[in-house]
Amino acid sequence: MSGKDNKTEEQKKALEQLINQLSLKQAVQDKEKEKEEDFKFWKTQPVPAIDEEVKEDGPIEADTPYDQIKKEPYALPGSFTWCNVNIDDKEELTELYTLLTENYVEDDDAMFRFDYSAEFLKWALQPPGWKPQWLAGVRVKSNNKLVAFISAIPATLRVHEHKQLLVEINFLCVHKKLRSKRLAPVLIKEITRRVHLEGTFQALYTAGVHLPKPISVCRYYHRSLNPKKLIETGFSHLEKNRNMAKTIKYYRLPEKPLIPGFREMKAEDVDSVQKLLNTYLEKYQVAPVFSREDVEHWFLPVDNVVYSYVVENENEITDFVSFYNLPSSIIGHPTYKEIKAAYLFYYFQEGMGKKYSTTRALINDALIVAKSKSFDVFNCLNLMDNDDILDDLKFGKGDGLLNYYLYNYRCVEVKPRQLGVVLL
Ligand SMILES: CC(C)(COP(=O)(O)OP(=O)(O)OC[C@H]1O[C@@H](n2cnc3c(N)ncnc32)[C@H](O)[C@@H]1OP(=O)(O)O)[C@@H](O)C(=O)NCCC(=O)NCCS
Repeated sequence: MSGKDNKTEEQKKALEQLINQLSLKQAVQDKEKEKEEDFKFWKTQPVPAIDEEVKEDGPIEADTPYDQIKKEPYALPGSFTWCNVNIDDKEELTELYTLLTENYVEDDDAMFRFDYSAEFLKWALQPPGWKPQWLAGVRVKSNNKLVAFISAIPATLRVHEHKQLLVEINFLCVHKKLRSKRLAPVLIKEITRRVHLEGTFQALYTAGVHLPKPISVCRYYHRSLNPKKLIETGFSHLEKNRNMAKTIKYYRLPEKPLIPGFREMKAEDVDSVQKLLNTYLEKYQVAPVFSREDVEHWFLPVDNVVYSYVVENENEITDFVSFYNLPSSIIGHPTYKEIKAAYLFYYFQEGMGKKYSTTRALINDALIVAKSKSFDVFNCLNLMDNDDILDDLKFGKGDGLLNYYLYNYRCVEVKPRQLGVVLL
């Protein structure tokens, strides 16, 4: 027997224990080091620390006086240059569409990628008060190729009792070939600078990634409208004890909306919708406040972009529901190119105490019209009153989470069902 192995059982046990303790210590040290290195950028920004318990609402830092705001853009690596993406120009709109359709958000398994249409981008990026310099792009100097983008649009958000003018930040995207080079922090700093120059110092944004520090964390839910296609593309799976024929039957919907007086929203409904939607949203702790122009922009139906319906009875609008069209490309599928997805947007439901409808009936009618318009799936988050209807209307729990963040504003954490804001 060699001396190496010549140990008593006790000695062996003691040695094993020591090794375990050492590796545990190493793991703890690694974790601590990782923590120190985490959020190198976000730690420099006016957001709550990841482990901070937010107890009171309010700005984190004071507004920067105009003369202290940097007037020059942040420096980019030498081969790149800033631009405003002019989406009124058809070619530039196509460039933005192409950047996003090829490089924007994918699911964790890289099977699906958001495919916002060009018309959708125009609608999403040009609401009342939009500014050309808030559609910020990065181009390669040598060939002018658009390789990164970030946007801001103005909005009014009520956070608990306080109404805050802010921007919504969206469509942050860096070309796949330029990832992990710390371009995203430069884009975020640059849009912040451009927003500061216009006198706004707070922002709202969402992300699938966990950063310091969400005000709320929501989950996606999905309602199959075309279960056969969803299963064939791997978006969803057959349930145990339910074959394809039974599954198709299970998700079948009536052909036409069921609530009497349910019809498409028209220009003449704008005043009623504005009044009733703002009133309905008051019950949530964090929710937008819409001007008349906002309502016209965000809710008058636009083909293939946004769909809005009201319930009218006895010349009175009692209910409203809207959804938007955001397809996903199916990455590398031999037969199917995309999944046509409807996302639940805003709604209100005045009819509750009256005779006409319930949230369940209202969203069921939205499912019915979405199905009739060939959507494959209807998605929503578990915010607003959505949680009450998910089971009944056969929504399934998704694996995606969406974190909501405020920039330069502390906000005591909000449960999804107390949250009344939907970003595109
Ligand atoms: C999101 C994206 C722009 C980040 O760029 P990247 O090249 O991966 O990362 P970079 O090296 O440039 O920057 C990393 C920093 O950005 C932060 N970051 C990454 N994704 C972010 C997001 N969605 N929102 C805010 N910050 C983000 C990281 O946390 C990191 O900062 P930290 O050191 O403080 O943790 C890029 O991955 C991308 O285009 N992804 C596909 C589209 C997408 O997911 N967009 C965001 C939608 S919310």
